Amino acid sequence: MSIDPKAYYDAAIFHEEVTHLFNRRLFVGTIADFSEVDSYKTIQLGREPITIRRTLDGIKAFSNVCLHRGALIDPEGTGIRPFRCPYHAWTYDSNGALSHAPKIDMACLKRTQLHAWRVNVEGGLVFIGQDDLDTTKVSAVMNELSIRYSQPYYQSYIDHQCNWKLLVENVLEGYHISAVHSQTFVPTGITSNSDYQWSCDDYACWGTLIAATSNPRSNRLSTIVKGTRLQYGHTYIFPNVFISNGNDHIGYIGHFVPSGPNHTRLEWCLFEQELLLRQNETIRKALRDAAVEFTQNTLTEDKTIVESCQIGLQSTTAAYQLQDKSNLEARVINFQSNYERYMRHV
Ligand code: FES
Ligand SMILES: [Fe+2]
Repeated sequence: MSIDPKAYYDAAIFHEEVTHLFNRRLFVGTIADFSEVDSYKTIQLGREPITIRRTLDGIKAFSNVCLHRGALIDPEGTGIRPFRCPYHAWTYDSNGALSHAPKIDMACLKRTQLHAWRVNVEGGLVFIGQDDLDTTKVSAVMNELSIRYSQPYYQSYIDHQCNWKLLVENVLEGYHISAVHSQTFVPTGITSNSDYQWSCDDYACWGTLIAATSNPRSNRLSTIVKGTRLQYGHTYIFPNVFISNGNDHIGYIGHFVPSGPNHTRLEWCLFEQELLLRQNETIRKALRDAAVEFTQNTLTEDKTIVESCQIGLQSTTAAYQLQDKSNLEARVINFQSNYERYMRHV
């Protein structure tokens, strides 16, 4: 089974995905993104502008469309500012209710309440969704990966001219590592043939690649940092967040908010793990910097490939044949069956 290639570029299917997948549970950032009262971050989920802000009552998510004449209340991006529309200064309270409209009798207004999304914070990760938002397993997922969130030391993003599912499917298999990541993963002792453990359910998907112990670079690393496990652990939480643990040194969280069928921005951050935090600053800095370079390079390598798939899948001769032999693409198959089920059960 595989998803119809049309689902990788069709605008109507994308709209269904926004409504039925991403509206239910969407990772939007970490608590570091909302550290001060009035700090905010906007996202564009399909046609819906949403602002997520820290209020005096905690982190909240609202429609970012002013109830007066439709201006965006918070400018696109991130920042710290009062919840006030820049056009005519209509102001909203921490529940998204209109609290002040200069020179207007608010009693005459039909609508004074912004649409709100539910917000759950689990293990430092911030999710929004509808009433059935389920984040109960997030902490278990982090534990399974032996990862603990801490303040990121590096944040960035990378735009992809492709459908979000190509990013997900690329991340869910190590089959491509030797061909695509010969300059990044392969020198660390991780290849397409590495020992590989994985498991999946309808919520998350785990995979761990174990580095070859004979690899000189890996050996040096485990000598420098005692207790290092030479492996790359990875989890995907359906539908839009990836979490990785590199050697128990550095954690990675990547996520995307799909803005269109052919465009996906991946935002990512890196943070130190307890094992690294116990090392001296020289070692910590060297490994922090190496992780930034490694992540930038691997993401760039993957971007080239997934963007080429986007072009290929729009061809009239497109094929998409997943292999389940030797578990090569088993996690991709699991993702696709979850996708089909969520899309069908709406
Ligand atoms: S459009 Fe927002 S105050 Fe006028
Ligand atoms: Fe990759």
